[in-house]
Amino acid sequence: MRLSGPTVISLAALASALPDAAVKRQVSQLRPSYDFVIVGGGTSGLTVADRLTQAFPNKTVLVVEYGEIQYGPGVSDPPSDSTPGRWSFSSLPNPEVNNKTAFVVAGQVVGGSSVVNGQFFDRGSRFDYDSWTEAGGREFESSDIKWNWKGIFPYFKKVRWSSLSPCEACFCLSQQHNPPIHFCSSLTPRQSVTFTEPPAEVAKKYGYTWDVSAFGGATPIHSSFPRFQWADQPVLWAMYKEMGLQEPKECAGGDKEGICWVPTSQHPVTARRSHSELGHYAAVIDTRPNYDLLVKHQGVRVVYAKKPQHKSSPPLVEVRSLADNSLFNVTAKAEVIISAGALHTPTVLLRSGIGPASVLKSAGIPVVLDLPGVGSNLQDHSGPAVSWNLTKPGTFSPLPKDMNNATFLNDAVAGFSETPARGPYTLAMGNSAIYVSLPHMGAPTYISSIITKIRAIAASDAKASSYLPPDHRTSPAMIAGYKAQLSTLATLLANPQAPSLESPWQSGSAATAFLLHPLSRGTVRLNGTDPLAQPILDYRAGSNPVDFDLHLAHVRFLRRAVDTPTFQKYGAVEVLPGEGVDDADDEALRAFVRAQTTLSFMHPCCTAAMLPEERGGVVGTDLRVHGAGGGLRVVDMSVMPLVPASHLSATAYAVGEKAADIIIEEWRKRRD
Ligand SMILES: Cc1cc2nc3c(=O)[nH]c(=O)nc-3n(C[C@H](O)[C@H](O)[C@H](O)COP(=O)(O)OP(=O)(O)OC[C@H]3O[C@@H](n4cnc5c(N)ncnc54)[C@H](O)[C@@H]3O)c2cc1C
Ligand SMILES: *[C@@H]1O[C@H](CO)[C@@H](O)[C@H](O)[C@H]1NC(C)=O
Ligand SMILES: *[C@@H]1O[C@H](CO)[C@@H](O)[C@H](O)[C@H]1NC(C)=O
Ligand SMILES: *[C@@H]1O[C@H](CO)[C@@H](O)[C@H](O)[C@H]1NC(C)=O
Ligand SMILES: *[C@@H]1O[C@H](CO)[C@@H](O)[C@H](O)[C@H]1NC(C)=O
Ligand SMILES: *[C@@H]1O[C@H](CO)[C@@H](O)[C@H](O)[C@H]1NC(C)=O
Ligand SMILES: *[C@@H]1O[C@H](CO)[C@@H](O)[C@H](O)[C@H]1NC(C)=O
Repeated sequence: MRLSGPTVISLAALASALPDAAVKRQVSQLRPSYDFVIVGGGTSGLTVADRLTQAFPNKTVLVVEYGEIQYGPGVSDPPSDSTPGRWSFSSLPNPEVNNKTAFVVAGQVVGGSSVVNGQFFDRGSRFDYDSWTEAGGREFESSDIKWNWKGIFPYFKKVRWSSLSPCEACFCLSQQHNPPIHFCSSLTPRQSVTFTEPPAEVAKKYGYTWDVSAFGGATPIHSSFPRFQWADQPVLWAMYKEMGLQEPKECAGGDKEGICWVPTSQHPVTARRSHSELGHYAAVIDTRPNYDLLVKHQGVRVVYAKKPQHKSSPPLVEVRSLADNSLFNVTAKAEVIISAGALHTPTVLLRSGIGPASVLKSAGIPVVLDLPGVGSNLQDHSGPAVSWNLTKPGTFSPLPKDMNNATFLNDAVAGFSETPARGPYTLAMGNSAIYVSLPHMGAPTYISSIITKIRAIAASDAKASSYLPPDHRTSPAMIAGYKAQLSTLATLLANPQAPSLESPWQSGSAATAFLLHPLSRGTVRLNGTDPLAQPILDYRAGSNPVDFDLHLAHVRFLRRAVDTPTFQKYGAVEVLPGEGVDDADDEALRAFVRAQTTLSFMHPCCTAAMLPEERGGVVGTDLRVHGAGGGLRVVDMSVMPLVPASHLSATAYAVGEKAADIIIEEWRKRRD
């Protein structure tokens, strides 16, 4: 459907008024060399570029980005002509899951996936981040740089930057609207901080709760609660409460077990998507003559003029113009940072000869560094949905089906353009979810039988290696790393405060069961015919069979919903798996999971993991590539050793913030 009238005009005008005057489009516009070169201008990459250009006015930074500068509408904004670039992938078939392929998308645009994502803005639980350090073992526990909750929480709060004035915070939005929208005068200083408290009447109406102590200093990335809920949103809330789940006041402060309100990454007043390009490029570029952004160029590989073992200087970055296919080298005097996202960072490293020697040799690429972890350890969230018919549905208004009513729809569109914005389009994907630990899902003996299976695999080289991709089964480092991960995950999954299941909702009566801590591991590899083309994704979903045990525990838990007073009152009848599927029949439930599971919730990660080299890691706690000397780091969602129990964008910003701090501190020391 296309909208006519003012909406289209204003969005079209907006797209043509982008702050792109400073953007570079060809090699002739570049400087002879840069201090820092960042490959990939996405969620983490632009966070780093912003912080480095701010901290070092006399050092130059170049960001090389494959995509274009494009306005990214919110995930559920009124239809517009604006469609930011996307990479889309179909994985290899997954033999354990009916040969299904995973459909995966990522942002191919300045700002990366933050420009195309669902704006659901949660953080993992404290235990998820603690587990990163645990998986790293003694080496990581004794490192000066800590990636546990205590070490990363300040970066979620983004305490470092508190100089932002309220008007700077909305600079980019007012610039991008033509004519500019003037909401700045109505902002109070509080609204320049990451999280903006909702107006009291909105909070009261929906029962929003939060704790400002989980949020911190000013940042140009916004986080707020929508001014709208569908009328039946409280039904599932009441039902989950009756299932015994807690209602934490705040879920972003490290403790997130129970029923949660989740902020949305959008502006508190306009409800426009907040993202990395707006916050970490457009909002600052006017005052950063040292910040260059080259668009429509692919970072091909890094090349060491000298052997990396010399460790003296960073590699060159070989770049390809998408306009004319020409290749050129860019010189970085200080560092090269790869931030191309979990699906592309491994491609840059592999093309550079940094990766598993066997894989490189078969692709005809000379081995520069044999690091089996590159492109390995692929994880994502996945799961089926349990659903119900409410045969006595009650009378709720409004509901999503009212968007079919032209009067209601027109009012929704008009409301979205008001200041403050109101109505259904401010809701994005919804902002409520349950997060449930395994011990809160079933009888202790049932749960401990699952944990025992994980521990048994973690304790055996033979068992652990049998679940790894074939070319890792003889790699002592990959086996050691996988065993350490499984042992860490067994502890995590046995923790009654660490969620294993997430189920978000906004209306209706269905529960998607996200498997938050998968045990199977996939790969990202180059296309042997064309290494510059899209990589080949092998999800290997369900290759560790205990993932099915976890799915089953989640499904069994959710199926208990029909017995709650709330669901009884509304006459709930299970649709999926369906009353014909016996809850005691593991095989029938497995068949349901195989048939119904969505293989990717768009959270691919962990393909250049931060783990010691002898555990199959690619980077250390300083995010430097093992063995590459001082000048090469990775900063994006590929560095996580384990996917956290959350959507990833808040973590992508936090990783970018912490990485920037590590780099800044090092270069400050060198100067002194
Ligand atoms: C459809 C979708 C929905 C999502 N929903 C949510 C959600 O609701 N909430 C949430 O928190 N998270 C969500 N996520 C996940 C989250 O947005 C991402 O995990 C996170 O933004 C990734 O950050 P990143 O910095 O690792 O990579 P990205 O932000 O993806 O950045 C990588 C950048 O590198 C560029 N690039 C790639 N290869 C090259 C190359 N060779 N040379 C130059 N540039 C290159 C890309 O174009 C891109 O701009 C979603 C993701 C998607 C795709
Ligand atoms: C930047 O360089 C100028 C000129 O060389 C110098 O005066 C200034 O102190 C430098 N600033 C910083 C922050 O190093
Ligand atoms: C999956 O595909 C393989 C190869 O084509 C085939 O041998 C196998 O039977 C398929 N499995 C299922 C469940 O369809
Ligand atoms: C980049 O530099 C490397 C190392 O000197 C060289 O081998 C390569 O050909 C250069 N690439 C281009 C496009 O000049
Ligand atoms: C359509 O929506 C309007 C505004 O909400 C409402 O007044 C009207 O009754 C609705 N019409 C139908 C047929 O539901
Ligand atoms: C590899 O790239 C070639 C050339 O672009 C393409 O035709 C082929 O389909 C790709 N292979 C896979 C498995 O995607
Ligand atoms: C659920 O409701 C739909 C629509 O009314 C109906 O087609 C379907 O048969 C119902 N399923 C069950 C299990 O009641």
